Amino acid sequence: MARVVAGVATSHVPAIGAAIDHGRTQEPYWKPLFDGLEPARRWAADAKPDVCIVVYNDHASAFSFATIPTFALGTAPAFPPADEGFGPRPVPVVEGHDDLAWHLAESLILDEFDITIVNEMPVDHGLTVPLSVVFGQPEAWPCRVIPLCVNVIQYPPPTGNRCFSLGKALRRAVESYPQDLKVAVFGTGGMSHQLQGERAGLINPAFDRVFMDRLVEAPRALTRIPHTEYMREAGSEGIELVMWLVMRGALSERVDEVYRFYHVPASNTGYGLMVLEDLAGPRSDR
Ligand code: DHB
Ligand code: FE
Repeated sequence: MARVVAGVATSHVPAIGAAIDHGRTQEPYWKPLFDGLEPARRWAADAKPDVCIVVYNDHASAFSFATIPTFALGTAPAFPPADEGFGPRPVPVVEGHDDLAWHLAESLILDEFDITIVNEMPVDHGLTVPLSVVFGQPEAWPCRVIPLCVNVIQYPPPTGNRCFSLGKALRRAVESYPQDLKVAVFGTGGMSHQLQGERAGLINPAFDRVFMDRLVEAPRALTRIPHTEYMREAGSEGIELVMWLVMRGALSERVDEVYRFYHVPASNTGYGLMVLEDLAGPRSDR
């Protein structure tokens, strides 16, 4: 059967993608950040997940304000990089796993998560930057990818608690797929940042560091953070952090923190990266 073997959390700052694409990673501004990615890249090369379920948000690239799904699952065999105004990023096409994705759709919906099924979808920096962070610049991405898109753009986004529960349902869905597959779940976005308004530029490293601590040891405490607290403490775009809770919900209670890195600033954000390995066998502690 398929198993969730690990979770990865990473911010998805578009400027990180641009630094990679334009060969600027060794410049003084970027070098400390890219040095900090190396242990996670070594982990990924060693762990070799077969499928990565990437929980991310679309930034009005695939969806406009005409249609705003709260949760949308990509069931296509492939997803092209989106054109976000400067042409598509020069990264490989994202190969999906349509058979597993349809299984996830069926399992999640029968488990009463009414997700939207998406058969055609370009993927923007929210998904491609995390892949670049973890896998660098390969000819082809080394795993299949299933996009799981969460609305954190237009109020009301889902609660952290709902995201955590979705992660648990995702684990049940993965574990009911008969083929042996190593699945990693990526929670992306964040950390604290505000791109607009009077407090544009806000970064709150103290909030970010506590969030990382609790994600490992006390994730349920994080599920109770209301939207207003994200807004106040982590800025208007800090709400992206609820997507980290989908990842954490998909892991068992016991995880091994393989790697943690935090760096300020990365563009307008506090940049966070974590690798958590699942310590429980399947279904052990649910
Ligand atoms: C930035 C961060 C984001 O999460 C995003 O979607 C766009 C821009 C930034 O830091 O510039
Ligand atoms: Fe974003």
